[in-house]
Amino acid sequence: MSTPSRQSIRDAQKRLQGVIHQTPLATSQSLADLAGYDLRFKPENLQVTGSFKIRGAFNKVSEVAAAGARGVVTASSGNHGQAVAWAARHFGLAAQIVVPTSAPAVKIKAAEAFGATVEMCGTRSSERLERAHQLAEELGYVFVPPYDDPAIMSGQGTIGLEILEEWPQVDTVLVPIGGGGLISGISTAIKETRPDVRVIGVEPEGAAKAFTSRKQGHRVELPGTDSIADGLITLSLGHLTHSVIETYVDDIVTVTDAEIREAFWLLFSRLKYVVEPSGAATTAWALAAGRKPLAGHRVVAVLSGGNCDPDTVRSL
Ligand SMILES: Cc1ncc(COP(=O)(O)O)c(C=O)c1O
Repeated sequence: MSTPSRQSIRDAQKRLQGVIHQTPLATSQSLADLAGYDLRFKPENLQVTGSFKIRGAFNKVSEVAAAGARGVVTASSGNHGQAVAWAARHFGLAAQIVVPTSAPAVKIKAAEAFGATVEMCGTRSSERLERAHQLAEELGYVFVPPYDDPAIMSGQGTIGLEILEEWPQVDTVLVPIGGGGLISGISTAIKETRPDVRVIGVEPEGAAKAFTSRKQGHRVELPGTDSIADGLITLSLGHLTHSVIETYVDDIVTVTDAEIREAFWLLFSRLKYVVEPSGAATTAWALAAGRKPLAGHRVVAVLSGGNCDPDTVRSL
């Protein structure tokens, strides 16, 4: 399997044109003042389906549809499942989403509203994955992975191209890391266009798989994870995403859940955005680290999603 390239990301950008939102960079004078440098935000919380995931899902499903598939299957409790359901409907394909028995009702309803069939299966991701592969075989559908796939990473990489096009003066981009698809795409787009722009990955302290992998010099699988950032609590990076991250990502840093909560509240009160905890992690680091390593820099924090159920908003 190959990794994404500037060309594959440009191809994805053409496919996505007119389908998804461009999400222009947002600014807040009070947040920039708090940070102490020029800080802007890439608001993927305002994206179609409420997160960046539609970029990769649409790119992958368009490939699968062109190859003649009748349907797609994925295993995801959250944003990827919704995005695959949306893309499948766009191309007239059937979609089957396997979710954990603990999945919030709002997320199940969103996938069903896009026409997908939702099946509940266990609580462990390995159980869901196994069931999804079984369904793919039984139904003759194609499995759409959440991050470790060149078409998925290329779709996510279109965010990197948009940032460079809109703000050529940017010198640092902050990206959250779950399985690593988002940062693999963005860092490829940026480093293969403007190698001088720094890409920094942000993880919760309780799910520091990329941070630990870099420290230990190989891809590690954590024994467990714990964070309010539910999109970032993957146990390990993918094989492909780990290799891209080691090639292109300059630094990997961590934030605490308390810092994420504070960032959630600041984004809500200053920018009037609802950003889910995974999407607020970059702002958490930007503001906590603001006065030191980033002083004098021109920084974009990727706000990767906004799918927060009302109970989560209340608890934050
Ligand atoms: C809102 C949000 N941000 C970030 C991520 C992490 O993306 P990736 O798994 O591609 O690293 C996810 C993954 O589900 C997510 O839902």
